[in-house]
Amino acid sequence: MPEIRPFRNGDVPDLVRLWNESDLGRGAAHLNSVEVLESATFNRSYFDHRGCLMALDEGKLVGFGLAGPAISPDRSSLDLQRGVICFVVVHPSARRRGIGRALVHRLEQYLRTRGVQTIYAGPHRGADPFGFGLYGGCRPSGFLRSDPAAEPFFLSLGYCPDARYEIKIRDLTTARDPTSARLMTIRRQVMLAIDERPDQPTWWWYEQYGRAEAFRFHLRMRRGGEMIASINAVRLDQYADKWQANAVGLVDLDVSPDYRGKGFGQTLLVEACRELRQQNVGLVELSLPMDNPIGLRAATNAGFVFADSGMAYRLNSSSPHDPGAALWAPERFGHR
Ligand SMILES: CC(C)(COP(=O)(O)OP(=O)(O)OC[C@H]1O[C@@H](n2cnc3c(N)ncnc32)[C@H](O)[C@@H]1OP(=O)(O)O)[C@@H](O)C(=O)NCCC(=O)NCCS
Repeated sequence: MPEIRPFRNGDVPDLVRLWNESDLGRGAAHLNSVEVLESATFNRSYFDHRGCLMALDEGKLVGFGLAGPAISPDRSSLDLQRGVICFVVVHPSARRRGIGRALVHRLEQYLRTRGVQTIYAGPHRGADPFGFGLYGGCRPSGFLRSDPAAEPFFLSLGYCPDARYEIKIRDLTTARDPTSARLMTIRRQVMLAIDERPDQPTWWWYEQYGRAEAFRFHLRMRRGGEMIASINAVRLDQYADKWQANAVGLVDLDVSPDYRGKGFGQTLLVEACRELRQQNVGLVELSLPMDNPIGLRAATNAGFVFADSGMAYRLNSSSPHDPGAALWAPERFGHR
């Protein structure tokens, strides 16, 4: 069995090679430099080399895994009660030899020693300390279907599905903008505005979007200026090679409660895409939790089509794989 040890600074070039040679799906950026990898992992103030494990076979890096703490619901701090395994990657030439399993068990031990009680696998909203910009396209959305080994692997290790995401795309080079009488009526009432950041950015906003080229679309009433809906946009230049497109991600669609289910979300998406097309953007990607049917319908109505799905898993408290199961009571993970 290969040696497993914590990350060292000198591992970075081998990690880039491993990442690029691991046949990862559409949600993994191809690394042309270390910048995207660093920004998503080592540069984070809470990065802990003990939670970043390297698997070496006769001195050659054949696998790595990374785990870290979750984020508090108000996004002002870390949530050390909950932890997440953000990556487990094994080189194709070394798979099905138990290396992935060994990495996961060591990461679980690491999280337990940090006091973590609930363990997730797959970075996702509220539990995404690492991975932004590197895996998951516009945002970490669990492990993606386009990496088909991830699901049977985590199920075999005692994890159960916890939150599902749908990733939708819109090709701005060919598709025409959807239109309807309702959209035209709403368009007359509202205007699109673009800001650099939300009115009150959280610590987490700076951690994620502050590092990227990000901006925010707002839909406001023309009369009175009332804010109706907003969405964050982030440039995805690191996916240009893989997707063969100049891409932007749209995340955190938020429609004011009084205006939900009335076509305003769809209008914001259509207008944002229109603006992005003017900026020579060819592809827009959107990630939405499956428990947001209104948002998903708004995206479909705005011309977005299914591209992938993501799943976040939770370690089953009764699993024989969970050594700490007897010590804690599992809590429900609330998704917004
Ligand atoms: C998922 C991955 C990490 C598994 O690593 P691995 O070292 O091959 O996994 P293991 O050998 O420890 O497998 C443990 C168990 O998981 C299950 N499993 C692993 N890969 C599987 C696959 N492709 N199909 C079905 N079951 C699988 C099996 O039950 C296996 O036990 P077995 O071999 O005794 O039957 C590896 O396939 C990989 O790197 N994939 C690409 C990266 C990825 O998708 N990572 C998650 C997103 S970052």
